[in-house]
Amino acid sequence: MCGIVGYIGDKQAQPVLLDCLSLLEYRGYDSCGIAVSSRSIEVYKDAIRVAALKKAAPKLSGKIGIGHTRWATHGAPSQLNAHPHLDCTGRIAVVHNGIINNYQQLREQLIGEGHSFTSETDTEVIPHLIEKHYQGDIIKAVEAALAEIDGSYAIIVMVAGEPRLVAARKDSPMVIGIGDREKFIASDVPAILNFTNRVIYLEDGDIGVITADSVKVKQHQAEVTRTENKISWTIEDAQKSGYEHFMLKEIHEQPRVIRDTLAGWMSAPEPILDLEAVRDNGAEAMLMLACGTSYHAALVGKYIVQELLKIPVRAELASEFNYYGQALAGTMAIVLTQSGETADTLRAMKRLKEAGCRVVAITNVVGSTASRIADQTIYTRAGPEISVAATKSFIAQLMALYWIMLSYAKIDASRLSSLTAELRQLPSKVQEVLDNQDRIAECAKYLAGFKDVFFMGRGINYPVALEGALKLKEISYLHAEGYAAGELKHGPFALLGSKTPVVAIVAQDNTHEPIVTSIKEIKARHSPVLAVVPEGDDSVEELADSVIVVPQVEPLFSPVVNTVALQLLAYYTALQRGCPIDFPRNLAKSVTVE
Ligand code: M6R
Repeated sequence: MCGIVGYIGDKQAQPVLLDCLSLLEYRGYDSCGIAVSSRSIEVYKDAIRVAALKKAAPKLSGKIGIGHTRWATHGAPSQLNAHPHLDCTGRIAVVHNGIINNYQQLREQLIGEGHSFTSETDTEVIPHLIEKHYQGDIIKAVEAALAEIDGSYAIIVMVAGEPRLVAARKDSPMVIGIGDREKFIASDVPAILNFTNRVIYLEDGDIGVITADSVKVKQHQAEVTRTENKISWTIEDAQKSGYEHFMLKEIHEQPRVIRDTLAGWMSAPEPILDLEAVRDNGAEAMLMLACGTSYHAALVGKYIVQELLKIPVRAELASEFNYYGQALAGTMAIVLTQSGETADTLRAMKRLKEAGCRVVAITNVVGSTASRIADQTIYTRAGPEISVAATKSFIAQLMALYWIMLSYAKIDASRLSSLTAELRQLPSKVQEVLDNQDRIAECAKYLAGFKDVFFMGRGINYPVALEGALKLKEISYLHAEGYAAGELKHGPFALLGSKTPVVAIVAQDNTHEPIVTSIKEIKARHSPVLAVVPEGDDSVEELADSVIVVPQVEPLFSPVVNTVALQLLAYYTALQRGCPIDFPRNLAKSVTVE
């Protein structure tokens, strides 16, 4: 949930750290800070964004340093709660991403032993524990400190005057970047791509000792080898490329994402997932699990499986499943997670494995924790997604689900070949939606004048209504709710009126007629209706106040074009309202806390 970075090499550390931190802000941005070491450690931190820190920070001299950008969990955003945190001597500095569950008990114990604390954070126990165990060997001290900690962490430890950094991870991501006579440590690859594309992924339980010339990794006291990987995408992929916001850039990348995603799989000799086993399994067939936008992809996936495979399937929120969910041994569990680091999802994956399920992860991040836990990983090819609002990763998840299920579809051959042909057309259909963005922006201008908005869809477009509402609320701060169209009359109708617009998704399947009826009922309550309608369908032209026309597609694929239209609607509404689109308040890209 926070971003951490470390540098050791022959450059001054401060500019490198600040550069990396600005690319990590999507992980949290309520405060940030850096510490640079030479003979002593100098810290500069505050409850400000990285750009402001760049301007405000004095010159800290040294070629070793650590940095942090925060998403507050323990203690409000403030100068004192910002990282890095120090021990009592001021000679040990730590940055941390994760949560220490037993910090309260450790803190009391340490205070009893004479340590004094300056922040309300859970993190601050770490430098004090290291200080307590430090007897000249920092690695032993870190190991001893970690042995006392219950929780999740990616930490970087720096000791004044020592020419090395110590990094450790458990349930929080971390990569080491390899350069010539310099090394980088970061929560995520994009942060260091300006400097290197050679990375090592640390695994859970790893402790890395990093100098300018070497990386040594230990696991349970023994040295282990971690292979070096070359990142194929570039810093440009992770930058705005002339777009005003990452979100708009990422929305516009979607035709390319669909094309790339399908191209790889279509040319593969084998299906990307073996579903035969699922068919033979007499138990419950399939379970899909995820959070947030990825959960909406799972809900669409449920309709796809029902339609194409005709087997029983459940879609569950990972955060709920962790408390109430059950799965039978032998069930195929498909877990969707863009980041591969969502804490609720990872916990659900572990529970599923314990229950004897076969766990397949669909994720966008190579080497992510989800990919390590899963029995099999299917990578979407969306490229780095920086904006907090998930857009292209959602569409890439849908592509994975369409392709997997089509490979095993129980439908007649002519329908299968027409669906496959239609699937290939999706990049150009999505491009048509993008080409219509001025019209969508006009509708957004209108929507921006309201406070509350309902979204309604039916069948496979019900999850699209949920996703449209989620996107609008998270970036424009308008109150938005997604509903199954048939449910509006069971309560929400009490809120309808001229100040409550309804965005209606009209599909050309068996839900068409009931949706049109719902629109009539809504209009009778004087609510403005903005309808998303396939080209050539004039059934709601007279009824709706505004219409966004999307290209005609096979109804099974309609979530793709409809979602892209709603992404643009949310984007332009937020733009109109002057919101910080890529970094909405209180949110973070990767939710690594439960
Ligand atoms: O990385 P994940 O796909 O596991 O993330 C799950 C949610 O946190 C995420 O989809 C969130 O809802 C989006 N940022 C919303 O746009």
